[in-house]
Amino acid sequence: MLPWSNSSATPLSQLLSFIFTFLSFLPRISWALDWIDYSPDGFATMTHYSLPENFIAACGCTSTSTNYPTAAMNQMAYGSSTSYGPACGQCFNLTLLNSFLSNPPFYPNVTKSVVIKITDLCPLSHSGWCNATTHGPNAAGHYLNFDLAWPSSSIPNDFFPSNEPFYGYTDFGVWNISYQSVSCTNWEGWNHAAALGSVANLGYSACCPGNPTGNTNDTCPSYSDNNGIPPDTQTSGFAISSSISFLPIVTLAVSLLSHML
Ligand SMILES: *[C@@H]1O[C@H](CO)[C@@H](O)[C@H](O)[C@H]1NC(C)=O
Ligand SMILES: *[C@@H]1O[C@H](CO)[C@@H](O)[C@H](O)[C@H]1NC(C)=O
Ligand SMILES: *[C@@H]1O[C@H](CO)[C@@H](O)[C@H](O)[C@H]1NC(C)=O
Ligand SMILES: *[C@@H]1O[C@H](CO)[C@@H](O)[C@H](O)[C@H]1NC(C)=O
Ligand SMILES: *[C@@H]1O[C@H](CO)[C@@H](O)[C@H](O)[C@H]1NC(C)=O
Repeated sequence: MLPWSNSSATPLSQLLSFIFTFLSFLPRISWALDWIDYSPDGFATMTHYSLPENFIAACGCTSTSTNYPTAAMNQMAYGSSTSYGPACGQCFNLTLLNSFLSNPPFYPNVTKSVVIKITDLCPLSHSGWCNATTHGPNAAGHYLNFDLAWPSSSIPNDFFPSNEPFYGYTDFGVWNISYQSVSCTNWEGWNHAAALGSVANLGYSACCPGNPTGNTNDTCPSYSDNNGIPPDTQTSGFAISSSISFLPIVTLAVSLLSHML
């Protein structure tokens, strides 16, 4: 008799363990294939959210980056479900086109543009402006949403054009915009070394290239592809999982909150 045949549990448990291991990789594999592949320029929506000055958002860019125009990008284009993703550090020129929720739509008589650096993640939700996936766009028909950190010391308070006498309000909330991927040498923070790069004390759990080009040597990988998705610790207070650092959890919780407001 061969040694293994009187212990039928061994091959079965090996098989089960193989199946389990295989299954546990599946969500990660399908997740990785599902990031939105957007073109370097096109149309998008722009919303705005409040990011406190000096706040270290999902990418882990330096606190000084908040002194210059920054934005969060919708999760499935950002390229990670938590912490940093390939979009971190990238710069875009955003130009306001029209409001479309207002009745009638508002077409400003001035052209307003801002060059932003992506420092934050706008979490995927079922509805809302950051809900685009490879299966479909957001309610404006766009696959990208830029959530502008505004008010900001670097962007005038009258950045968003309005016509209060006609509409009765000044904030349209969401805009149809055009965007262009641009070199970060066009970003207002470019000549300020402290505004570039990631915070030092986060080590490898932060990633914020000064001017990412898409090459692997200057562009962030996807945190969630490489590390999986950390457990949801939002309702359990400040429980810290040993494999992930504290800050991304806090940042995600705060950015989730601020994007819901
Ligand atoms: C951004 O777009 C506006 C409007 O098209 C344009 O005038 C401006 O030169 C652009 N800025 C950069 C840095 O590409
Ligand atoms: C996003 O939400 C809008 C409604 O707000 C919906 O029409 C659209 O289908 C949603 N997109 C996806 C990809 O779920
Ligand atoms: C956004 O602007 C583009 C270009 O003008 C236009 O084709 C598109 O219909 C607009 N989308 C919305 C939702 O207003
Ligand atoms: C531009 O539009 C605003 C209202 O949206 C109006 O107050 C202003 O007079 C207009 N400017 C010009 C030059 O037409
Ligand atoms: C990345 O690699 C390219 C060549 O593949 C090189 O030209 C470039 O300087 C490198 N960038 C950095 C930031 O190391």
